[in-house]
Amino acid sequence: MKEFSEQNGARSIPYEHPGHVISTARAKIPHEPNPDEKIILVKRIKQLLKQQDAVLVAHYYVHPDLQDLADETGGCVSDSLDMANFGYQHPAKTIVVAGVRFMGETAKILNPEKRVLMPDLEAECSLDLGCPIGEFSDMCDAHPDRTVVVYANTSAEVKARADWVVTSSIALPIVQHLKARGEKILWAPDRHLGNYIQQQTGADMLIWQGSCVVHEEFKARELAEMKARNPDAKVLVHPESPLSVIQLADVVGSTTQLIKATRTLDASKFIVATDNGILHRMKQLSPEKKFLEAPTAGTGATCISCNHCPWMAMNGLVNLAQVLENGINEIHVDPEIGRRARIPIMRMLDFARQISLPTSGIGNA
Ligand code: 13P
Ligand code: SF4
Repeated sequence: MKEFSEQNGARSIPYEHPGHVISTARAKIPHEPNPDEKIILVKRIKQLLKQQDAVLVAHYYVHPDLQDLADETGGCVSDSLDMANFGYQHPAKTIVVAGVRFMGETAKILNPEKRVLMPDLEAECSLDLGCPIGEFSDMCDAHPDRTVVVYANTSAEVKARADWVVTSSIALPIVQHLKARGEKILWAPDRHLGNYIQQQTGADMLIWQGSCVVHEEFKARELAEMKARNPDAKVLVHPESPLSVIQLADVVGSTTQLIKATRTLDASKFIVATDNGILHRMKQLSPEKKFLEAPTAGTGATCISCNHCPWMAMNGLVNLAQVLENGINEIHVDPEIGRRARIPIMRMLDFARQISLPTSGIGNA
């Protein structure tokens, strides 16, 4: 995040729009309840989830309280692919998505008959915001010979224009598969993930120039210095990070894949280059191990609040209780857009099953 200003309980977050124009979006700063309030809220939310036949599906980047609550109530804490799959398979009538808007939209697209709620509908994602449907459609129209592959971090409209939707855990095998079929790719919106996939597969990829405000900030030089100071540490990097940072990684992968690496690698110290919300699950699973956050605010960075997605941070116990109590913040997707967007999402989920990609989270501590 290059700079942001704080006003009226919200931060103004700059992000990249097409043509390298910088726009800003609001991210509210949530109220953090005190320990007594938390006990009351957690109890009430558990009752409401039961009463309303609702299941909580949370991302690894949201507040630890919400991750624990999802675990304790038979919900799911996982990466984007797994969240989509879990909600799709679960029989509950209401899905509550603690994450960002594209995750709620994906749940609704896959479950049009269910009610999908979110603690805050304004929880955005800079990749989604930076890929508006108008400009994206123009790019698709200009390249009709290319297979359109979009990251899950996009709007329902953008997904409806795509041939494939991918998440970070499955992008590589899907692009390998398309390359083997001789297809040329139009990729959107994350340029870093796109560059990484291109480098790994050698596929012909035309890449939209979006980025994630959190991962964009990791700094290769400072990471190399940290690595030199901690020669026993393994470096874990999410592929939304710049290629220079990815090049220093021992493991590159989705949030679930990075968590798995903390259990399978022969190391007791890890440097983690992704949103620091993930450290909660890593520490739960390996309390004896040490986790260092990869550096962001090195030379040249003007980041003030780093390593945590400002929109993921908008999910809290207070607004979660409110949406369940009042039935507010329901996600709606235009049925025709949803019908079209579902096709490339289902293609991804079917592909995951065909290659036996595990799509169940990493489990409890
Ligand atoms: P994962 O699918 O790896 O959880 O990534 C989602 C995301 O938004 C990362 O910034
Ligand atoms: Fe989007 Fe980045 Fe936040 Fe993930 S961490 S939701 S990619 S802005």
